[in-house]
Amino acid sequence: MKIIEAKDYDELSKIAGDIVLAQIREKHNSVLGLATGSTPIGMYEYIVEAHKKGDISFAAVTTFNLDEYVGLDGEHPNSYSTYMDTYLFDHIDIPKANMHIPNGVALDAEAECTQYEAKIVQSGDIDLQVLGIGIDGHIGFNEPFTPFTSKTHLVQLHETTREVNQRFFDSLDEVPTHAYTMGIDTIMRSKHILLLISGSSKAEIVARLLNESVTEEIPASVLKNHPHVTLVIDRDALSKTK
Ligand code: GLP
Repeated sequence: MKIIEAKDYDELSKIAGDIVLAQIREKHNSVLGLATGSTPIGMYEYIVEAHKKGDISFAAVTTFNLDEYVGLDGEHPNSYSTYMDTYLFDHIDIPKANMHIPNGVALDAEAECTQYEAKIVQSGDIDLQVLGIGIDGHIGFNEPFTPFTSKTHLVQLHETTREVNQRFFDSLDEVPTHAYTMGIDTIMRSKHILLLISGSSKAEIVARLLNESVTEEIPASVLKNHPHVTLVIDRDALSKTK
C-alpha cells in the first residue's frame, strides 16, 4: 500500500483528484468505481473544476458506484444517485448510459445484484476504484465479517453505520436498514484502488488498519492483499497511528 500523507482535507482532495484525472488522461475510456460519503466531495469538486476549465472530458468514461440504499429511488434526495448528480454527474460530460448505480427500488434484489456484478465484469472490471472507510472499517457497505469472496449483494446495515449516516437524514427512522453494495471480491478485482481517509473520527480505525493484520473484522484490511492501493490520508486521520 502506497501511503500519501496530506496536510489537510483540501490537499487530500487535490491529490486524489489529480490521480483520477491522470487515470482518465492515460486511458480515456477508463472504468471508474466511485464512492459517496463526505470524504470524496472535495475530490469531486476539484474534478468538476478541471472539467469546467476544459482540462478533461468524461465522454468515454464508464462509472460504477459502490453502493445504494435499498428503498430509495434515484430521485430521492438522500439516494446515492442524487448525491452523484449533485457532486459530479450534473457538471461533467459523461453520457447517462455510462453511469451505473444499483437500483435501490429494484423489485428483485437478487437479480439486481447479479446484473450489477455482471455489468462490471463485462466492462472489463474497474480501472480505478475510489473508496472511503467507515469508522468500523467498512468499505462500500461491506460491514465487518463480510466474506472476502463476496460479490455485489444485499446487506443489512449495522446500527452504528445507520447512526453515522443519520446526519444526511431528518431522523434515524428515515435511514434505510438495507443497502446494495459491491462485494469485497468486486472491489479487489479493481486494477488500482484509491482509498481516501480524512479526519480525527477515522484515527482509531486507521491505527487498527495499519497496525493489525488482515482480518474480516476490519473489511478495509483486505486492501493489504491488493498489489496496487494508494492511500491518501490527512494528518488528523493519522493522529492515533504510531
Ligand atoms: C458510507 C458509504 C461508504 C463511505 C462511508 C464513509 O457508509 N457507504 O462508501 O466510505 O460511508 O463515509 P464518510 O466519507 O462520510 O466518512
